[in-house]
Amino acid sequence: MSVQSKIKRITVPDIRARKGNEPVVCLTGYHAHTARYIDPYVDVILVGDSLGMVMYGMETTLGVTLDMMIAHGSAVVRGTERALVVVDMPFGSYEESPEVAFRNAVRVIKETGCTAVKLEGGKRLAPTIRYLNERGIPVMAHIGLTPQSIQVMGGFKTQGRVEEEWAAIEEDARAVAEAGAFAVVLEGIAEPLAAKITGQIDVPTIGIGASAACDGQILVLEDMLGLSPRAPKFVKEFATLGAQIAGAAEAYAREVRARTFPAAEHTYGMKKVK
Ligand code: KIV
Repeated sequence: MSVQSKIKRITVPDIRARKGNEPVVCLTGYHAHTARYIDPYVDVILVGDSLGMVMYGMETTLGVTLDMMIAHGSAVVRGTERALVVVDMPFGSYEESPEVAFRNAVRVIKETGCTAVKLEGGKRLAPTIRYLNERGIPVMAHIGLTPQSIQVMGGFKTQGRVEEEWAAIEEDARAVAEAGAFAVVLEGIAEPLAAKITGQIDVPTIGIGASAACDGQILVLEDMLGLSPRAPKFVKEFATLGAQIAGAAEAYAREVRARTFPAAEHTYGMKKVK
């Protein structure tokens, strides 16, 4: 007999229905235990390819592989029961054709147990988003500043600062929404444009560095916890865990060196940590 979890996982229609209603709370997550801590408070956990920088110390997301995304995606699904888990498709795993994207997205869905995938790109990816959606794979889109195109963009720059840039970004937003994306991440988009796009499309916009005008927000977990060596200027730190980890390591080292470290008990039982 299987043991049924009492908590129902948030679904794609639940997130769609938040358009114009209660803001959608999203954070990234990369491993089981931190995901377990944030699960009761967030609607969506994105296993972002930012894990290349956050977990592996890479300079960009370009070196992240499908196997890395699948390993971390499975860990996050195992650690959660409520939040909708979305896994990023890494650079090179979906751009070639809708068929290649479908094959790789099926691996992500089957091997992680996540609900949806995220793709970076606007109008040019609309046929792929439609192809996946029609075959049962929900897609979160990601437009504006798209870190996988960093070499083409020439750096992390706010998009839509001048009105001449707006039309193309608005067209991207409309194209991915019409193709069936259930939500659209707006990254690094100037506030008036983010507000305009939010008013134009009928699915929630999730902002990161795109102002409070969006239907929801996402931050990189380690950035908001104060664990990243460098974080974008717009990020508010809700904790200072980096400093706390250094302090704990220093205190531990002091106790070991002073031989005051508590002796191990004879039993190796586990205690519950909140
Ligand atoms: O990879 C990531 O973490 C992301 C978010 C910043 C939206 O794409």
